[in-house]
Amino acid sequence: MCGIIGYSGDQDSIPIIIEGLRTLEYRGYDSAGISVCTEEGIKTVKTQGRLTVLEDKLKENPELGGGCAIGHTRWATHGEPSDTNSHPHSAKNLTLVHNGIIENYAEIAEMLKGAGYTFESETDTERGAKLIDLLYEKYQDPIVAISKATKIIRGSYALGVIFNDIPDTIFAIRKDSPLIVAKGEDGCFIASDIPAILKHTKQYYRLAEGIIAKVSKSEVEFFDMEKNLTEQQLETVDWDVEQAQKGGFPHFMIKEIHEEPEALRKTLEPRIRDGLPYFDIPRLDGDFLSKFGSIHIVACGTAMHAGLIGKAIIERIARIPVNVEIASEFRYRNPILKKNDLVLLISQSGETADTLAALRLAKAQGVYTLAIVNVIGSSVAREAEDVMYTRAGPEIAVASTKAYSVQCSLLYLLAVKLAVLNKTMSEDEARDFCARMLTDIPKTVTSALEMSTKICEAASRLVAAEHLFYIGRDMDCQLCTEASLKLKEISYIHSEAYAAGELKHGTISLVTDGTPVIALTTVGKVCEKTISGIREVKSRGAYVVSICSEELAAKYDIPCDEQIIIPHIDEILSVFPAICILQLLAYHVSAQKGLDVDKPRNLAKSVTVE
Ligand code: AGP
Repeated sequence: MCGIIGYSGDQDSIPIIIEGLRTLEYRGYDSAGISVCTEEGIKTVKTQGRLTVLEDKLKENPELGGGCAIGHTRWATHGEPSDTNSHPHSAKNLTLVHNGIIENYAEIAEMLKGAGYTFESETDTERGAKLIDLLYEKYQDPIVAISKATKIIRGSYALGVIFNDIPDTIFAIRKDSPLIVAKGEDGCFIASDIPAILKHTKQYYRLAEGIIAKVSKSEVEFFDMEKNLTEQQLETVDWDVEQAQKGGFPHFMIKEIHEEPEALRKTLEPRIRDGLPYFDIPRLDGDFLSKFGSIHIVACGTAMHAGLIGKAIIERIARIPVNVEIASEFRYRNPILKKNDLVLLISQSGETADTLAALRLAKAQGVYTLAIVNVIGSSVAREAEDVMYTRAGPEIAVASTKAYSVQCSLLYLLAVKLAVLNKTMSEDEARDFCARMLTDIPKTVTSALEMSTKICEAASRLVAAEHLFYIGRDMDCQLCTEASLKLKEISYIHSEAYAAGELKHGTISLVTDGTPVIALTTVGKVCEKTISGIREVKSRGAYVVSICSEELAAKYDIPCDEQIIIPHIDEILSVFPAICILQLLAYHVSAQKGLDVDKPRNLAKSVTVE
């Protein structure tokens, strides 16, 4: 996602725009830009890098000023971060900023080329700008041009548009991406989100889809797609700026956990075409992957834990051996790699030093490298031979949550692709599996989010713990590793993830009266065995929290002190609502301890050093 702001009024627009963009940097920060309506026409200053880089560039243009401007801070989705790919983007008659993804940008580009248009950037946004321009040339009406353009565009968008020959006026429209419109004492605004205008007014309109806003210095008007004047509901916000950046949530982490359903939809939807996995990477969409004998997943921390889930699902449905490695170990142990191995790097930031080193080592040995990365244009993304981008949007909290979930979703899609190639799954079975992923994963994660109150109560009984175990078998055991890390890194409670069947080989000596044990049971074939493990710890005084699927809770009487039932989903997909519950549990423990949930001690969001 990106941050948009527009202002028209009697004040100098530049400081207002810059200040507004600063409050929106949580939405994206790899590049920024501003376009100002001046006597000599629209002037644009834009650059790769944080907002401070744009501010430095503006200092080189001290004469630039005007009462109407649009600004943008970017989270790259089409085209790597660069000066050219930064917004705003211009055409002959107009300049605009965009938040969203134009899915049919290629087909729009072909149409525009036929009309003589050329392009400077790689972005879908520039193609959108020139489409509106083409229609403005034809109809000579901004509202008609925008209305007709949005009937051609497929995808998500929030657009702020200024026209050369309509000074001091901003036109805005949105679909899927949020956009608000506001009238303050010193002018009128558009913005992606409330923080950007909060200093000027607490009243705003949440622009409805299919409505075009016309924002001038002193008034805001709304038109439907047939250019009829219409009304919008005025709302009032009672947040301060910091709360507003978190969407009203107390911390970024809880906000980002709540973004999981949308992040999963945005990651999965474009990657399922004709019902089958589609990576928009020619090699991957053919039978290229069928030549690999084994897969090495290499990553750190949470990303490595997603790799453990990847191993479990790929081996289960594609029957291809997968080896998961900690990058800092992999890079120094002179790994044995064969020419037909696939090395898969997973990284949210794409800048983790150990993961990057592992990538370079694999490439040096002539092994094919594929990356799953969240940050477009990051080092891992650029250096891997192919990259699949998750679409989680910026993850601000140090503790990774939505990134883990979308990494797992891509690994599931990869597993289905491999299974079809390996003929362990028919195309019909694959279509059914993908369809269930698309409908059931976001839905059940949403249901898990609605359990937050119950989970918060369970968390209150763990706040005083000094030591805690997570136990499970099979996929549950892999989930425990991530659940344990989440709790450790934000609540500072020592916890261990342990294979339920392994406890009796020594570690159970640590279990005493009241030791909390979180027992995961979603995998039917090993449930009875896990219950044996639960009985072992209960007989030694453990306080057991059972996190269990609906079916297994109905089928077995799981000995526990309390139980949290996972929203109903196919067992093989239960990872997704289950991890949401476990993330919420860790979050509430930390929040109830009054800790700095978003910035835990000793930790950085991206470990770019060894
Ligand atoms: C996750 O909560 C941690 N912040 C950390 O383990 C993180 O997952 C790890 O440093 C890897 O980061 P990356 O995904 O950006 O490579």
